Amino acid sequence: MSDRPLIVAGLGLFLGLVTFPVWYNVAAGTRPEAPAPARPATATSCVAPREYMRASHMTLLVQWREDVVRRGDRRYVAGDGRRYEKSLTGTCLKCHDDKAKFCDRCHDYAGVTPACTDCHLGSR
Ligand code: HEC
Ligand code: HEC
Ligand code: HEC
Repeated sequence: MSDRPLIVAGLGLFLGLVTFPVWYNVAAGTRPEAPAPARPATATSCVAPREYMRASHMTLLVQWREDVVRRGDRRYVAGDGRRYEKSLTGTCLKCHDDKAKFCDRCHDYAGVTPACTDCHLGSR
């Protein structure tokens, strides 16, 4: 006698249980929606390529802050040659002017709450 059928059945049961949450959500139609941050109305490109911004905007912001606060360096030249001031409210939030529909949509989804606007408010 072979144990094979039993092992195969056991494996099948195991896989079914492990992937149950996936099947359950598919069946119930409750796949979580990815956030849809609002694009700026006029601008067509960011200060760096979109994929980079999506993954690394926090690193860029920290870099900008260090440059400004520690080195007094406020000039940023983008990959496409355009010039910007290294400023959260003066640059990022000029284009992305609806923070609630842009930054917050992603952050609420991801469960992060950067406290930048405790200090950075209005036009500066
Ligand atoms: C406790 C208050 C405070 C908090 C909180 C804070 N900052 Fe700042 N930040 C400052 C001050 C003060 C400056 C210096 C402003 C200047 O010299 O123009 C500054 C400068 C900067 C600058 C460069 C200048 C500019 O106009 O933006 C960047 C970029 C920046 N902060 C990003 C951030 C980010 C991102 C966060 C959240 C993770 C943050 N800051 C949180 C107080 C704060
Ligand atoms: C000149 C206007 C402009 C400025 C300044 C700007 N952005 Fe953008 N940003 C855009 C546009 C337009 C897009 C969409 C680009 C695309 O689809 O290729 C974008 C995309 C992004 C994305 C990706 C969004 C997504 O749906 O994938 C993030 C994150 C972002 N920007 C954050 C920032 C931050 C942080 C700053 C400041 C350091 C900044 N942006 C400065 C115009 C700007
Ligand atoms: C496409 C989605 C998306 C958009 C749009 C977006 N963020 Fe984020 N942001 C994230 C995610 C996800 C994280 C958390 C990343 C992590 O923890 O590794 C994050 C983290 C951050 C952090 C670091 C917070 C921390 O506690 O470490 C800062 C600062 C930040 N974002 C600023 C901004 C600003 C300012 C804007 C709007 C101009 C913005 N983000 C728009 C997705 C986004």
